[in-house]
Amino acid sequence: MATIIAPSILSADFANLESELKKVTDGGAEYIHIDVMDGTFVPEITIGAGVVKSLRKVSNAFFDVHLMVEHPETQIKSFADAGADLITFHVEAAKHAHRIIQQIHELGKKAGVALNPGTSISMIEELVEDADLILVMTVNPGYGGQKFIESQLGKIHMLYHMIEEMETDCDIEVDGGINAETSKLVREVGANILVAGSAIFGAADIAQAIKDIRGKEIIHHHHDEDDEE
Ligand code: DX5
Ligand code: ZN
Repeated sequence: MATIIAPSILSADFANLESELKKVTDGGAEYIHIDVMDGTFVPEITIGAGVVKSLRKVSNAFFDVHLMVEHPETQIKSFADAGADLITFHVEAAKHAHRIIQQIHELGKKAGVALNPGTSISMIEELVEDADLILVMTVNPGYGGQKFIESQLGKIHMLYHMIEEMETDCDIEVDGGINAETSKLVREVGANILVAGSAIFGAADIAQAIKDIRGKEIIHHHHDEDDEE
């Protein structure tokens, strides 16, 4: 599976979002990762649906909206109407996660489910078949520029096998502390969508940073082949 790069605009200059978006799409990024924080699920407050609506007017990029909010079910429609293409909510914030996936699909959008570093993949086992994507946080959500948590690699690998065994289509996205080095680690265990904030917007050459994070394509062997070993 080809790697998709999703620059997080959390690390962009908020006074110049239009030009910041253009820099990363010109630099080869496929998705724009938009971090929505409510000051409750995580301490800070960031971007609301109004900002997404304005950005939609100046960009055709794929908008990957990451909701770090309590009561995500109350926010789905606003962000769908504002122009999100993918809406990801946290399983820790959802009482009826399966229903939220249905709600997102009814609005014609892709649905993602996010897991904090302390949350086991057993929490999403019953959701993998219906979700389009599982987002494994490789930092505790809330801030850009934190250190990658290595213990999440085993979880990503287990998730990769879980998805394969279910013979379903589900992307694995990772978010937090991704740079050219950690990119290789997560791609090796099966992640195919990589979010990066500070490593992209903090780089002198944005196109080069995107290229470095994308790296060389890794060919994964199928489970059957593993069994023959
Ligand atoms: C963290 C956000 C991330 C953040 C990643 O709560 O969900 O998307 O912007 O930033 P870096 O890549 O700097 O770790
Ligand atoms: Zn994020």
